Amino acid sequence: MEPSLDLFMFIHLILLLFSFDLVVAAAASSKQPVCHGDESSALLQFKESLILDSSVSSGPNAHPKVKAWNTNGSDCCLWEGVECDQATGYVINLDLSSWLHGSINSSCSLFRLVHLHSLNLADNDFNQSMIPPEVGNFSGLNQLNLSLSVFSGQIPQEILKLSKLESLDLSGNALQLRNPDLGSLVDMLSNLKQLHLGYLPEFNQSSLLELLFVGNTSFSGNLPYSIDSLKSLHHLDASNCQFSGLVPSSLANLTQLTYLSLAFNNMSSWTLSWLDKLTKLSYLDLDQTNLYGNIPASFQNLTRLSAIRIRTNQLTGRFPSWLGNLTQLTVLALSENNMYGPVPESVSWLTNLQIFELVSIPLVAL
Ligand SMILES: *[C@@H]1O[C@H](CO)[C@@H](O)[C@H](O)[C@H]1NC(C)=O
Ligand SMILES: *[C@@H]1O[C@H](CO)[C@@H](O)[C@H](O)[C@H]1NC(C)=O
Ligand SMILES: *[C@@H]1O[C@H](CO)[C@@H](O)[C@H](O)[C@H]1NC(C)=O
Ligand SMILES: *[C@@H]1O[C@H](CO)[C@@H](O)[C@H](O)[C@H]1NC(C)=O
Ligand SMILES: *[C@@H]1O[C@H](CO)[C@@H](O)[C@H](O)[C@H]1NC(C)=O
Ligand SMILES: *[C@@H]1O[C@H](CO)[C@@H](O)[C@H](O)[C@H]1NC(C)=O
Ligand SMILES: *[C@@H]1O[C@H](CO)[C@@H](O)[C@H](O)[C@H]1NC(C)=O
Ligand SMILES: *[C@@H]1O[C@H](CO)[C@@H](O)[C@H](O)[C@H]1NC(C)=O
Ligand SMILES: *[C@@H]1O[C@H](CO)[C@@H](O)[C@H](O)[C@H]1NC(C)=O
Ligand SMILES: *[C@@H]1O[C@H](CO)[C@@H](O)[C@H](O)[C@H]1NC(C)=O
Ligand SMILES: *[C@@H]1O[C@H](CO)[C@@H](O)[C@H](O)[C@H]1NC(C)=O
Repeated sequence: MEPSLDLFMFIHLILLLFSFDLVVAAAASSKQPVCHGDESSALLQFKESLILDSSVSSGPNAHPKVKAWNTNGSDCCLWEGVECDQATGYVINLDLSSWLHGSINSSCSLFRLVHLHSLNLADNDFNQSMIPPEVGNFSGLNQLNLSLSVFSGQIPQEILKLSKLESLDLSGNALQLRNPDLGSLVDMLSNLKQLHLGYLPEFNQSSLLELLFVGNTSFSGNLPYSIDSLKSLHHLDASNCQFSGLVPSSLANLTQLTYLSLAFNNMSSWTLSWLDKLTKLSYLDLDQTNLYGNIPASFQNLTRLSAIRIRTNQLTGRFPSWLGNLTQLTVLALSENNMYGPVPESVSWLTNLQIFELVSIPLVAL
């Protein structure tokens, strides 16, 4: 008897689960927004105006998102890369990164999607198109990502209309920022928290910018002294550019910094004491930055440091005995400097250490 009872219960359970599934599915489908016809045709028109080309994309997840669009029903809210507002059915998020090749102009149908909150066109080839002024039509945009998408020319004034913009990624394009310049961009887009570029201007007003990425660009000139207007900055990456001149001592005022990289530039600094008060720093990369002087004792106060890279500079003095007090360190790389001395015993306290480079030649205890 027992097995059949078990079997009965098993079947009953399956039925319960099945009906539960049906209820869930019904609830989900009744909630699913239905795309607006004009937005659906704007998307299809955009797709038709371009070709799909795998060779233009290099990202790890690159694939032709738009390929199956019209073959998979007419509800564009279900298409890959498209997300609609649950209540209104308007397209609010659009991720069209990768595989798109062709030109964009002012009559591009994408500009009809005026309810967008985020737009990602990264990792495409828009064939040196200028960014059309109609970009200002996206008045609700929080995030705009045009990284590595072969746009060129001056960024249009109309971008300053995007007052809700919090994240703007223009990196990896041959874009110009003259009018507007980056100063007015940062000053007028007061909600901007993340900016990825190629240009670095004078900053005249304090701003809420928290992340600034200008790495891997050909920007040259000084890192502006006025960078300390960006008082909320916690992530500054200006590595691998052609900056020259002195590292501005005003960096000392950016006390919120947790990530700082100035590596691989033609700047120089005679002291590292401007780092004294940056007690929130966790990641510090000053590889090949023409640094002179000692590692100051004040570094002992930077107890949150998990990575120190200061390779290939002109630092002098003994390896400090207190290095072992920076117990969060996973990376400690000081090689190719003029420092000397035995490896401090305290370094053996650094149990999290994964990368450890003091010298590039065998150590000689002095
Ligand atoms: C703008 O782009 C569309 C679609 O690619 C094209 O048909 C049209 O000729 C272009 N207009 C101009 C002025 O280049
Ligand atoms: C069609 O849409 C469904 C539901 O979102 C999805 O599971 C399926 O992968 C899509 N098919 C194609 C070819 O995109
Ligand atoms: C790129 O633009 C040039 C002229 O500016 C044009 O001749 C060429 O057809 C365009 N290529 C694509 C893929 O749209
Ligand atoms: C922009 O998109 C690219 C490709 O999808 C991505 O790698 C990058 O992190 C994005 N930028 C931002 C600021 O999210
Ligand atoms: C887009 O902006 C242009 C001017 O920038 C304007 O003429 C047009 O009406 C706008 N389109 C929509 C759909 O808002
Ligand atoms: C910021 O100041 C510099 C020099 O003082 C000036 O050339 C620039 O136009 C100003 N930028 C803005 C956006 O006010
Ligand atoms: C610069 O390029 C390197 C190597 O491709 C990458 O790891 C790094 O994140 C890039 N930095 C920025 C700020 O884009
Ligand atoms: C830090 O900011 C204060 C006030 O804004 C200024 O007086 C001081 O010179 C700045 N310090 C550095 C090192 O620039
Ligand atoms: C680096 O800066 C020095 C002056 O500080 C200059 O003489 C030299 O040409 C610069 N090197 C490069 C590669 O820009
Ligand atoms: C660490 O910071 C404290 C408080 O600001 C300061 O009094 C002390 O001198 C600093 N230690 C070193 C070694 O600089
Ligand atoms: C470094 O660690 C040692 C041993 O824990 C301690 O005696 C010393 O006071 C520490 N130095 C600082 C600056 O915290």
